[in-house]
Amino acid sequence: MKLTHLQKEMLDGKHGYATQKSMEILNALGEIFDAEEMVPVTSVQIAGVSYANLEEPGLDWLAQMAKDGRVRVLTTLNPAGMDLENWKVLGIDSEFAKNQERVVDAFAKMGIITTCTCTPYLVGNLPHFGEHIAWAESSAVCFANSVIGAKTNREGGPSALAAALTGYTPEYGYHLDQNRQAQIGFTVKSSISGTAQFGTLGKAIGDILDSNTEWTIPYITGIPRANTDELKAFCASIATYGGNALFHMEGLTPNKTKIPKETITITEEDLEKAEGALNEEDAAIDFVSIGCPHASLQEIQYIAKLVEGKQVKKETWITTARPTKQVADRMGYTQTIEAAGIKFACDTCCVVAPIKGRFTGLCTDSAKGCYYGRGRNKFQTKHCSLEECIEEALMQ
Ligand code: F3S
Repeated sequence: MKLTHLQKEMLDGKHGYATQKSMEILNALGEIFDAEEMVPVTSVQIAGVSYANLEEPGLDWLAQMAKDGRVRVLTTLNPAGMDLENWKVLGIDSEFAKNQERVVDAFAKMGIITTCTCTPYLVGNLPHFGEHIAWAESSAVCFANSVIGAKTNREGGPSALAAALTGYTPEYGYHLDQNRQAQIGFTVKSSISGTAQFGTLGKAIGDILDSNTEWTIPYITGIPRANTDELKAFCASIATYGGNALFHMEGLTPNKTKIPKETITITEEDLEKAEGALNEEDAAIDFVSIGCPHASLQEIQYIAKLVEGKQVKKETWITTARPTKQVADRMGYTQTIEAAGIKFACDTCCVVAPIKGRFTGLCTDSAKGCYYGRGRNKFQTKHCSLEECIEEALMQ
């Protein structure tokens, strides 16, 4: 690794303990992945915020870094283990809440913006095409690389924090244009719309990528249009099922790429099979969750329209970023939705919140939500459109 004078100083401890530890992490990563040098980053997204994941050893490390560490670039946080303001209503116990607050305080002390969301791009952490960034949330990484055209590897929590505290990341992987070329084509022979169907498509393609070690970057054709909500659902799903951090979608994503010769067709039957795997026949639904990835203002506006004057019969959560909810508050969407009995869970999500054992069956429009709902929380799952989720919530 070629280091600049400033980077060497950081490594030698001339800029404090946290900066030194950070540069050690980045330098080691660069050596492992054969990076030639560091590249400056303009934006960081840190994951691993829930106390449920960090526990005391993780929190101790953060507290050490927070003693003199201060971020050098715009840095935001992934969802925490609870709604930082409304945790009691959502049934979080006070011991967990106290520890989660200690985690968020440590991040805040370092100058990190504590908008705890997996959709930072919807609330002000929005890089530009071609910018080098260091993000650590799989769905957001996929969105940043593919939909925005920024450049990031899939960082871990420590390497993202290290990038924030130094302003650099080693230049390897998706930071290099030669590693951003499509390797396999997919032609979709079915018309796709809505977040649930885009999630199903993400699973269908993701499963194929996951079973083949040669391809990681697909070039997808046959999708004439997709809105931001559909693309965020697709990113979450393909990242979950295929470990994917970058895709190209003809006419919809901005990166230049060579077009692969080999193409796989995704048929109606492939999508039905993927959809079938997300659903359990007799799932006993007692929990409905929308907002994985975090719900956008447009989704919240639409939900308000669907539930106006109605009353849900099942526990129903919308997970979203607090700034998004604040605009929903101003527009009256929150009041309409809460009057229908739906709860907002800001700053958190159904995967990182400690809700294992509280519910039996989860109904969601998120293919990613099904994966973690089953794997982590042992819920049965039903995957359906946003409209059907609301219908399920309204049913006895
Ligand atoms: Fe976001 Fe949690 Fe889903 S981090 S993508 S809402 S699992």
